[in-house]
Amino acid sequence: MKETMDSILDQKYPFVTTAMPIQFNECTPNTSEATLKNHYEYLNKYVNGLNKLMEENEGYKSWSIKKILTNYSQIPIDLEDDFIENAGGIFNHEALFGVLCKPNMKEIKGKLADDLVRKYGSIENFKTEIKQAAMDIIGVGYACLVLDENGELTIITVENQENPIMYGMKPIFMIDLWEHAYYLDVQVNKAKYLDDQFNIIDWDKIEQLYNDYLKEM
Ligand SMILES: [Fe+2]
Repeated sequence: MKETMDSILDQKYPFVTTAMPIQFNECTPNTSEATLKNHYEYLNKYVNGLNKLMEENEGYKSWSIKKILTNYSQIPIDLEDDFIENAGGIFNHEALFGVLCKPNMKEIKGKLADDLVRKYGSIENFKTEIKQAAMDIIGVGYACLVLDENGELTIITVENQENPIMYGMKPIFMIDLWEHAYYLDVQVNKAKYLDDQFNIIDWDKIEQLYNDYLKEM
């Protein structure tokens, strides 16, 4: 699973919109076909946006998504936000789409479950905490379970299309809190969207990613 994340991060110009790894209707009823199709269009928008930025600023054409997200401070201030939004938008969406699955197929288990219970008391408490972090986001962004700089499981939030990688952390699981991710299905009922999200995540892949990260620490 870490290879998948690395291959997303290693992408360079010209960026290409990767195929959706599942059928658009596979996450129903938790996420509708229309929402997932619309969401996929956002990935396409970020791909086109980053290609355009590279063409207008040729000095960055050799930069990978990882380099943009970890060296953004070297980008002039008037371009920085655009680069982060598009590079982060590609990474965040490809990573998210890559762990979607049919509803109610997977549960959090294995070492990830053990460590979440140790940290948060129970899986339910972990879900409650990350949902609360997500509910508290003002505007748009992501609620993220990460491995922080000290190798600790931590819940953080990021704004817009930022990503924990920008802050030296490893993203394990991210929930998209842009309205495009849920508004069509549940309107303002963010709590329902959050509950639905847990049911359409392939937790085996998330646990595998977690274990891969632990091995390299
Ligand atoms: Fe999104």
